Amino acid sequence: MDKMFSFEISTYKNFKMKRRDFISSLGTVAAFSGVSNAAPFNIIKNLKNSPNDVIRIATIGMGIQGHYDTKAALKNPGVEFVAAADLYTGRLERVKADFGQNIFTTRDYREILNRKDIDAVLIATPDHWHDKITIDALNAGKHVYCEKPMVQAINEGHPVINAWKKSGKTMQVGSQRISGSVFQEAKKLIAAGEIGQVNYVESNNDRFSAIGAWNYSIPTDASPATVDWDTFLKDTAKMPFDANRFFRWRNYKNYGTGVAGDLFVHLITGVHYVMDSKGPNRIFASGGLRYWKEGRDVPDVMVAILDYPKSGNLDPFQMVLRVNFANAGAINNNTRIIGSEGQIDFGWDGLTLTKKKLPKAPGYGNYDSYFTFSESQQKDFEKWYNEKYSEADRKGEPVKEIKIKGKEGEDEHANHFGNFFENIRKGSQATIEDPIFGFRAAAPVLACNDSYFQKKPISWDPVAMKLA
Ligand SMILES: NC(=O)c1ccc[n+]([C@@H]2O[C@H](COP(=O)([O-])OP(=O)(O)OC[C@H]3O[C@@H](n4cnc5c(N)ncnc54)[C@H](O)[C@@H]3O)[C@@H](O)[C@H]2O)c1
Repeated sequence: MDKMFSFEISTYKNFKMKRRDFISSLGTVAAFSGVSNAAPFNIIKNLKNSPNDVIRIATIGMGIQGHYDTKAALKNPGVEFVAAADLYTGRLERVKADFGQNIFTTRDYREILNRKDIDAVLIATPDHWHDKITIDALNAGKHVYCEKPMVQAINEGHPVINAWKKSGKTMQVGSQRISGSVFQEAKKLIAAGEIGQVNYVESNNDRFSAIGAWNYSIPTDASPATVDWDTFLKDTAKMPFDANRFFRWRNYKNYGTGVAGDLFVHLITGVHYVMDSKGPNRIFASGGLRYWKEGRDVPDVMVAILDYPKSGNLDPFQMVLRVNFANAGAINNNTRIIGSEGQIDFGWDGLTLTKKKLPKAPGYGNYDSYFTFSESQQKDFEKWYNEKYSEADRKGEPVKEIKIKGKEGEDEHANHFGNFFENIRKGSQATIEDPIFGFRAAAPVLACNDSYFQKKPISWDPVAMKLA
């Protein structure tokens, strides 16, 4: 089964499948508070002053993820869903059918921002709308949960961070998997040096299906009457209504962020979280459009190499990521963090820690130069070797494999919202995935796209968060 795909469909699993390994414990969430790299801690003037105060939410963008986000948010106590905005009429009807006829619905998200009774907005629109709606919402005094990637272009990152700092409001970016206990465990294992110094991270996320390649179903009533096409286009090139572009926006660089923004971002978020890393300083991506030539203008095969520099206790390491949406061969996806003394392999229901330590003695014989020595030299060599290395020096540590499962009853998506709401209630801006953390994960994936389209490596300063 496609493991990294789980980043995107974990919400699906949470609602459609009964997983064994869920937690709903807010205690777990509490442990995440304030762990983000460089998150400021501001006191919010209009903070909810009692943990029992109800937080009233609205969702902007009620497509696939808008539904999953809203349901995950509502699994937390003291949260009420009151309004939704979307550009397609059918989805506004669906909201009322699923969540109640009393939910206020509109095509214009600004009507939601104008309402004083709404505390927080969930932004689950296509990527090209993330920055504008986030900034408008923060300026309107709303707390913001914004889907990944936080922004669609690198130059949009700092304006979002500045609006957040100025607002004093709480903001969470939505790569929910880091709010699962598996990532907490991985973070502890790496900090404890269980796999030595990390030197390499790899992940494949191949697929071979139309839906896996983002060709989602288009309703038969899609038309300029049912869709606010002009608003969807935002500041991109004007063109006549095109249902493919509206409902399959990931296939177009004007609205989405390609496989890097859709999929690599989850892995990078996870790695930054478990390793306390601020990001790579050199990014190179290559690929092409090999199979899904229905009109998309982003690659369906992409390979990226990201160089992470020395930072704090971390030695330099490489990250290699791949997506192949046209893999008709055996799909064997994996996500691994590899170190000098072992590896962490992320799976569906947990992680496997493999520990391995080389002996001090290098050994000799077999495929080695030893057999090419003269007989007398071989004897001398053996004598020298036996004197130099003790019995203990010749024994490596036996390979150990430890499987760590996610917590029973866990729901990482609900936890991610739990962390957001908890920080709203205590007046903190410091969520597990605040905009600084969110931008440090988004920028490298956006640089993958820049590298692919510009056919050159991109240099990035992960501390100052600027192109270098
Ligand atoms: N965290 C995750 O695991 C995860 C999973 C899937 C999607 N996502 C993210 O969620 C976002 C939405 O993805 P999706 O698959 O739900 O897309 P979708 O096409 O199913 O839904 C997007 C909705 O946004 C609406 N919309 C577009 N512009 C709008 C605007 N200006 N105002 C109000 N509504 C607007 C559209 O009408 C549409 O219904 C994307 O950023 C995606 O990257 C995250």
